[in-house]
Amino acid sequence: MPSRVITIDGPAGSGKSTTARAVAEHLGFVHVDSGALYRAVTLAALDAEVPMAGQRIVALARALPVRLPLSRDGARPEVAGVDVSAEIRADRVTRNVSQVAALPEVREWVNEALRAAAEDAPGVVMDGRDIGSVVFPDARVKVFLTANPTERAQRRLAEQGRPSDRRSVETAEKEISRRDAFDAGRDVAPLQIPDGAVVIDTTTMSFEQQVDHVLELARQAFGSLDTIS
Ligand code: CDP
Repeated sequence: MPSRVITIDGPAGSGKSTTARAVAEHLGFVHVDSGALYRAVTLAALDAEVPMAGQRIVALARALPVRLPLSRDGARPEVAGVDVSAEIRADRVTRNVSQVAALPEVREWVNEALRAAAEDAPGVVMDGRDIGSVVFPDARVKVFLTANPTERAQRRLAEQGRPSDRRSVETAEKEISRRDAFDAGRDVAPLQIPDGAVVIDTTTMSFEQQVDHVLELARQAFGSLDTIS
C-alpha cells in the first residue's frame, strides 16, 4: 500500500469522483475511480450479452484486458487499449452495475486491480463504496462524502447536461435511491461509513469548499504537501 492514501466513499452522485480528481490534481497524487472498473465489467457483460447475475460474468471479468492508466484522471479505463470512459456512463450500464458489483468474485478481481494500480504511486486518492472499509482500511485519510438525495439528483443531471425540471429530478432521485439501497443492502462490502472516516455533508457546500475540506484533512495527516505537485 502506498504511504499516502486518501479514500473517498459515499452514495451515488455525492461528487466523489470530481472531488477525488481535484484533490489528486492539487497534491500530485494519482486518482483511481473504482466505480469505473465495475462499470467497465458491466459494459463488457452487456456487449457480450452475458447474464448480469451468473458466474459467466466472473470469467469474463478475469479475462477482460482492462487497464486503469495511472494519471490524475483515474476515471478513464481502457478495454483492449480503447478508452471506454464515455460508454461506461451510459444509462444501460448505470442500471445494471450494482448487480454486477454485488458478486464477490467480481469484487475480488476489481480489488486486486485497484491495489495494483495504486502500488507504485507516490500518493493515491481512490473513490468508491468500500475503499476505506475494505480496499484500504488502514488509509490515513478517510472521507465519507454525502448530500441529500435531491441535491445529488440535481448535480447528476447537471453533470450529464440534462434539464433539471421537477419530473427529471424526481426520476433521477428515484434511480439514485434505488442504487444506494441495493449497494447498502448487499452482503459483501456494502456501502457504509468506514471506521474512522470523516463524514462531509456537502448539501450546502460549494465544490471548492468540499475540496478544501479534504485537502485540509490531507495536510493534517501528511504535513505540508505543496512541494509534491
Ligand atoms: O459515480 P456514481 O456514484 O454514479 O457511481 P460509481 O462510483 O461509478 O459506481 C457505480 C456502481 O459501482 C455503484 O453503484 C456500486 O454498485 C459499484 N461500486 C462498488 O460496489 N464499489 C465501489 N468501490 C465502487 C463502485
